[in-house]
Amino acid sequence: MRILLLTHAYNSLTQRLWAELTSRGHDISIEFDIADSVAEEAVALFKPQLIVAPYLRRAIPESIWSKHLCLIVHPGPVGDGGPSALDWAIQKGVAEWGVTVLQAEAEMDAGPVWASVNFPMRAVKKSSIYRNEVTEAASAAVLLAVERFESGDFTPQRPEKLHWQPLMKQADRAIDWHTDTTATVLAKINAADGFPGVADTLFGQPCHVFDACAESELKGVPGEIIARRETALLRATIDGAVWIGHVKRPGGIKLPATLAFAVEASTVSPASALCVPAGTSDGWWRVKYDTPYETWQDIAYEEAERVGYLYFDFYNGAMSTTQCQRLQAALAWAKARPVRVLVLMGGRDFWSNGIHLNVIEQASLSGGSAADESWHNINAMDDLTRELIDSPYQLTIAAVSGNAGAGGCFLARAADGVWVRDGAILNPHYKNMGNLYGSEYWSYLLPRRVGHEKAAAIMRDRQPMTAARALASVFSDATLGGDAEAFRSDVMRRASALAHDVNFAMTLISKRAARAEDEEDKPLAAYRAEELAMMQRNFYGFDPSYHVARHHFVQKSLASWTPRHLARHRDLGWKVPEE
Ligand code: COA
Repeated sequence: MRILLLTHAYNSLTQRLWAELTSRGHDISIEFDIADSVAEEAVALFKPQLIVAPYLRRAIPESIWSKHLCLIVHPGPVGDGGPSALDWAIQKGVAEWGVTVLQAEAEMDAGPVWASVNFPMRAVKKSSIYRNEVTEAASAAVLLAVERFESGDFTPQRPEKLHWQPLMKQADRAIDWHTDTTATVLAKINAADGFPGVADTLFGQPCHVFDACAESELKGVPGEIIARRETALLRATIDGAVWIGHVKRPGGIKLPATLAFAVEASTVSPASALCVPAGTSDGWWRVKYDTPYETWQDIAYEEAERVGYLYFDFYNGAMSTTQCQRLQAALAWAKARPVRVLVLMGGRDFWSNGIHLNVIEQASLSGGSAADESWHNINAMDDLTRELIDSPYQLTIAAVSGNAGAGGCFLARAADGVWVRDGAILNPHYKNMGNLYGSEYWSYLLPRRVGHEKAAAIMRDRQPMTAARALASVFSDATLGGDAEAFRSDVMRRASALAHDVNFAMTLISKRAARAEDEEDKPLAAYRAEELAMMQRNFYGFDPSYHVARHHFVQKSLASWTPRHLARHRDLGWKVPEE
């Protein structure tokens, strides 16, 4: 079928639907919802048999829904309606939620239901629910709705009654640090995570707070900021404390809390040293899982059965210069441990999205140079990638549970094996960010893996890859099913098997021989120098495309047109195929 995806942005859910529908043989084109007339034009050009709206911020015009079947993805169960569906569900702490695919009509969220899928809720950030449970449920529900539409014998039913919930306002989200418990504060910040955040004050100054995490050991006077650790600030509640990871100040952009309040944060005392990992004598990374208390920690390490697991849970998968350097130090430390296999676990929601575009943008906003910060950041990413490539005494695995993009994908490919959770989306290309050339040794890692022709196509086409597509194109080595917890268990089982494999020594010898041969052929330093020469042009050259694209990405500027590689119906000479 010819299906038009009408969407506010090409976000991860839209990417997932594009990939799922394309892999089932449907003919998909995409139009951003910019104006009624633009959407009408897209419909006239593409002549879709069906329109799917995975992510809209306003209603579809009557001129379209009255003539074409339009399926809206609503992040709420059957009968739920309103623009803050997930926010209310998280803040109220409901046990079960869902996604409904319904037909667009005059009344919002009230049309006949084509499919719906429910799921149990987790008490986590809205963005995490959206990228996991909602994306899974929406994907299943849309595929079912499309099948039902194709079959021609399904009659959608209207919900029996509609429970409309209004837009959640900042007054509904407000935190009272003198009465709210840790659980309440967390629920409020979780419900606002990603966007819009909770309007609050820090150091007596207004800001929006995001990215909260409970602390159960450290306590203080309710409302006071009592500690900092790396990029996060700890604020006491009436029964504990909450780490605030990210902050947006008025007129500013979302930043790590200790950067947004750099001067004020420098006067806050650092949280006490983290405890030593079990079974190690010199570790400074606390074991992340199965600990008796909760705290915030972006880099963590644990060890079991001759396997080391390195976790790096950076917000949104963005990795600043300092974060890359800290992770490199952690990796170098882990490589000196008596382990045979090292697994890079990344974070639950993102593995890595490459250089930290917000921190880079902030450099220019605070009077510094975005080009210099980009340069430092990409060099730190390259140093980290090199640290991983140069691992002669271990087999390394990138266990990609959450999404990965740009340089983050090539950091993963620098490991000997890449195992991807079914459901994760990879974007192993750079061009969307103002024609960025990219580094992270991609020009060595990608062609070596998929061949020159396919490497060129991946970079050129700039399309997202599902786990299945990544495996089919041999970008990855395995697809593992299940949710994040099931994935982690499976990764641990497989990594342990790898460490105890009778052929382990031979595998390591072959790995070293292959690396030595490649180095002989062309040194890694040469790949890096070539890539960085191109990146230098992107950062310091005449063409400002990268700086412009980064600025719009970070500032979340509204799109004024749909990129041509997505809007196929706008290709020159595009014609509706003969039916
Ligand atoms: N630096 C800073 N922030 C980043 C980031 C990066 N490299 N990559 C993603 N983010 C942020 C987004 O701004 C967004 O922020 P929000 O919490 O304020 O909404 C959040 O992460 C989620 O991004 P979003 O685009 O909504 O996620 P997605 O899962 O729908 O899409 C990508 C994933 C990878 C397609 C998209 O995030 C992207 O294009 N990222 C940029 C990758 C890049 O160019 N990196 C630099 C070159 S190495």
